[in-house]
Amino acid sequence: MEESISNKIDLHKININSNPPTEEPSRQYFFMAKCRGWVKDFEEKNGRTPTACVTTFGCQMNARDSEKLLGILEAIGFSPSDSEQADFVIYNTCTVRDNANQRVYGRLGVLKRYKKANPRMKVALCGCMMQEATVIEKLKKSYSFIDLIFGTHNIYKFAELLWASFESEGMLIDIWKDTDKIVEDLPVERKYPYKSGINIMFGCNNFCSYCIVPYVRGRERSREPGEIIREIERLVAEGVVEVMLLGQNVNSYGKNLDEPITFAQLLRKVEQIEGLERIRFMTSHPKDLSEELIAVMKQSKKICRHLHLPLQSGSTRILQQMNRRYTREQYIELADRIRREIPDIAITTDIIVGFPGETAEDLEETIDMVRRVKYDNAFTFIYSKRTGTPAAAMENQVPPEQVKEGFDRLLKVVQDTAREQAAKYQGRIMDALIEEIMEDRHSMEEKQSIEDEHSMEEMHSIKEKHSAENNVPMVTGRLSNNTIVHLPGDASMIGKIVPVSLDECHGFYYIGHCILDETGAK
Ligand code: 5AD
Ligand code: SF4
Repeated sequence: MEESISNKIDLHKININSNPPTEEPSRQYFFMAKCRGWVKDFEEKNGRTPTACVTTFGCQMNARDSEKLLGILEAIGFSPSDSEQADFVIYNTCTVRDNANQRVYGRLGVLKRYKKANPRMKVALCGCMMQEATVIEKLKKSYSFIDLIFGTHNIYKFAELLWASFESEGMLIDIWKDTDKIVEDLPVERKYPYKSGINIMFGCNNFCSYCIVPYVRGRERSREPGEIIREIERLVAEGVVEVMLLGQNVNSYGKNLDEPITFAQLLRKVEQIEGLERIRFMTSHPKDLSEELIAVMKQSKKICRHLHLPLQSGSTRILQQMNRRYTREQYIELADRIRREIPDIAITTDIIVGFPGETAEDLEETIDMVRRVKYDNAFTFIYSKRTGTPAAAMENQVPPEQVKEGFDRLLKVVQDTAREQAAKYQGRIMDALIEEIMEDRHSMEEKQSIEDEHSMEEMHSIKEKHSAENNVPMVTGRLSNNTIVHLPGDASMIGKIVPVSLDECHGFYYIGHCILDETGAK
């Protein structure tokens, strides 16, 4: 399902013997055409199409970047594969916490074995982790089998880099420190036919003291609203009903454009796109969340009743050390206002435990916040020291083993609160976008944060119970407030928004049934 103008650009018509164009994206289409020659050559020699596997670590931004990588690989002629025993494997990495890095190193060991068995195999690495100098040093020293390494700023040059790596021996490394460039109209291979992420901005200017993102993703750059709208219109024409507007801090969208525009104004424009049914966005920084945004959400029929509002800590003292630029009281006031204005909204959050200097009292304040705000869900993380960030240089780092007990206590309160919130909808009828057949364990896991193991266990037990007892095919849908509901149904429902009766609350999930009548009308 190629979404963009790659369908219209015929790579065969590009003269690959001329000089590469200097302007983008034409230059990349030129190199795609060149790479296609490599693929043809492979097919002649091997009697089959080469396969490519894109593995994503990290956030939604990375997931969207991976769709772009796959779009280019498919345009070139690779056939996509879920197996890492492919002819081309690329890891799109994350470095927000050290365990993300460790997972990559662990899996590279496995890739090395695959490459030994298939020496023609090409291995590439890209993404946030590659923007760290220490990582590159380590890869050069201990992982010399890797063919291509690039970062976050030059990902739009993937086709060109791929061609260069086909042409060269050994490891090709191309890392840029920063860029102000945004290249539009490259091919994208979307994972879901009915929903899509849309980048509205790149980078981050906030410099929270624990966070490596501003260093690996660079300064904030917003896309032109016209480009965003055009992209969404195209997606809707292809069958997309739900979009997720992506940015590290969407609330500061548009401030630095030649013609500045606010995020709320952008939402108003997106809302007007006919055929689009649901709008989500991620992530909001509490310090920049405007009255205007609350008003737009309140009036909107399309903006989902879900706000992800990272708290990080409930202690004003720690928030100050984190450079978050709001106090505990300001956050409470904001959350109260949002709940007052939009009563059926779900508020979710991110929390870090074990930031340097965090005391038992600070953690108590965080736990108290969870009870007060009544989060519908929260991702809880143990602080991870990231080299180069201000917090890494702070004294009184808390040893991770000292954090465990407090972390577990927080998690329990988060789960209790989330359960309580989810249970509020018991017996209600709400619209759900049907996303998939329920049996797909892999994608169910993806929906969960890796850290959120408890809810995974719970979900699996629900699934087994239901399939065993009733033996009816089930589908999984998502409510506007992001709650998951499982209901009897089949593949024909995927991508449709249907009214669902929320019959049984199982902790964080519902088992329900669709209340469409035979004619399909609500
Ligand atoms: N350690 C732990 N968690 C972190 N996050 C960002 N940086 C760190 C770090 N150094 C968390 C924050 C952020 C989420 C995406 O990851 O909670 O909101
Ligand atoms: Fe996403 Fe940040 Fe991880 Fe990069 S480092 S993938 S921006 S979470």
